[in-house]
Amino acid sequence: MGNKKYKIGYTTGVFDLFHIGHLNILKRAKDLCDYLIVGVSTDELVREYKHKKPVMSYFERSSIVEAIRYVDKVVPQTTMDKIQAFKELNFEVMFHGDDWKGTPLYDKYKKEFEKVGVKMVFLPHTPGISTTDVKESIQKGHS
Ligand code: CTP
Repeated sequence: MGNKKYKIGYTTGVFDLFHIGHLNILKRAKDLCDYLIVGVSTDELVREYKHKKPVMSYFERSSIVEAIRYVDKVVPQTTMDKIQAFKELNFEVMFHGDDWKGTPLYDKYKKEFEKVGVKMVFLPHTPGISTTDVKESIQKGHS
């Protein structure tokens, strides 16, 4: 404890059908902070902004994320308002996969975070895997 670049870090996601891309980002985030908080999107939030139903419930998804050794605390992500999360959790850095880098939404978050002194750090996205890919490959079947 105490020798990492940041003290409290925060990252978010759905983490449905937990896969290697999820594990990689949590490890990379924890490599940079002493205490990693993960906001797992609630079923309601996924319905609202992705217009789909996760395969695994919030309870299942958050229980799996909580059991990962790189994760110190899990909180429900109930809103896309990241500043609201900052007010409650007081992290100094937010991590995200670099697939979102440069998007209007994340440019907006970056500016809002700068005003309150929070750094936004993009970590390498793992190529070739996503929850959507896993679902599609199961639907197609393996032979
Ligand atoms: N992530 C990653 N590499 C991947 C997939 C996800 O680094 N190959 C990261 C995302 O950038 C995010 C976190 O893992 O920071 C949670 O991702 P999630 O919201 O669960 O996204 P996907 O697995 O990509 O799901 P979907 O296909 O539904 O978008």
